[in-house]
Amino acid sequence: MSEKPWDGRFSQKTDRLVEAFTSSINIDKRLYSYDIEGSIAHCRMLARQSIITEEDASLLIQGLGKIKRDIERGEFLFDDSLEDIHMHIESRLLQDIGKVAQKLHTARSRNDQIALDVRMYLRDETLDILKNLISLRELIVDFAKVHIDAVLPGYTHLQRAQPVLLSHHMMAYYEMFLRDCGRFSDALKRINIMPLGSAALAGTTYPIDREYTAELLGFPEVSANSIDSVSDRDFIIEFLAAASLCMVHFSRISEELVLWSSSEFGFIELPDSFSTGSSIMPQKKNPDVPELVRGKTGRVFGDLIALLSIMKALPLAYNRDMQEDKGTLFDAVDTLKACVEIYIKMLPNIEIKKEAMLEAASKGFLNATDMADYLVAMGMPFRQAHSCIGKIVSCAISENKELHEMTLKELKPFSSLFKKDVFDILTTRQMIDRRKSSGGTATKNVKAAIKLAEGDLKKEKENLTG
Ligand code: ARG
Repeated sequence: MSEKPWDGRFSQKTDRLVEAFTSSINIDKRLYSYDIEGSIAHCRMLARQSIITEEDASLLIQGLGKIKRDIERGEFLFDDSLEDIHMHIESRLLQDIGKVAQKLHTARSRNDQIALDVRMYLRDETLDILKNLISLRELIVDFAKVHIDAVLPGYTHLQRAQPVLLSHHMMAYYEMFLRDCGRFSDALKRINIMPLGSAALAGTTYPIDREYTAELLGFPEVSANSIDSVSDRDFIIEFLAAASLCMVHFSRISEELVLWSSSEFGFIELPDSFSTGSSIMPQKKNPDVPELVRGKTGRVFGDLIALLSIMKALPLAYNRDMQEDKGTLFDAVDTLKACVEIYIKMLPNIEIKKEAMLEAASKGFLNATDMADYLVAMGMPFRQAHSCIGKIVSCAISENKELHEMTLKELKPFSSLFKKDVFDILTTRQMIDRRKSSGGTATKNVKAAIKLAEGDLKKEKENLTG
């Protein structure tokens, strides 16, 4: 059992069970590079403010650099008795460079240190997720361009409603992921705030320069209130909320892929490389990838609810309960990233069965609204037209016909307003291209939406890299 940096006032050694119970090293070791980067910036600031000497600072910085390399080479022993990543690095530094290591923690507490590490980690991950979501949106736009002539039934209540362009349907997901990007970018503003220098909770008596540390670590601002800085986990909750909503979108598209790939729909074929078989039924090709994305959505919701519950009754400022934040955050980040990556690879390889989609869009009276609109254009009030077409549909069902298969002679008894030209507007193509209202499915509109998206994506990419 190693000596603890805090055991000065203790007369008994920590129980092994307690060491294991309180240890978070297995989870927070992945923060090592941020912890070291933060410590190096802290050292530089301490030296600049003459709180430690330049010589001490350079010994500390060299020592920290070596520890980073050792961890990366797998030459670093992690051990429960040292609790967390901060204590592991500090105690190794003591072994490596001797007593000067004890100066590193001047004007700092693990409470502001962990807040810094998590913010740095989440800043990188959020940027990474944003980049990947932008790539996915680009692929959706490409998909919409390639399949611009594919038509499928649009559904409400999962009943065939009106025909839409497949591109229009997919551009709906583009909009959802666009909003997700908006939420992640917004969360990033509140993640990107530097908490170090808040110390345990009340600030410090040393003449530190927090702005300088922030500058070294690339933070545009420092946190305003030391108590808030060490007890705030809103930035993680916000990220988890944005991640949950993003997963809702992945789950919905996954559900559609599962349905569409079934023999009942037969609209798409998932790539073999993204499907699995059954161990008993040789004919099966299962959509496990979208199913798992749909399933993993539940995990991310769980992560959000877990952290909300952890935080809801905590008094200010830091409480050890908050150590539980990282498990939820890492799980959500890993899950969401895996889902975005898998969609980026899968989407361009989905085979579209255009004929089957069109066939489905041509059956089931999807042109009933258009027929009612025709009567309205001829002067009939909409409600009356609705009821009139309802009767025609009922008659067509009994005769086993579609609306466009009825003759003018058969239509006339329902309304004298019907003319020969009614059949012109009942084709699938007309139904789509006449829906020119802004945001509607007309080919012209969808092409314009694609163009707009391409412009926006270009700008967003420049902003992110620039
Ligand atoms: N491992 C701790 C965490 O993740 C770091 C902060 C611990 N602070 C303390 N006073 N025990 O929250």
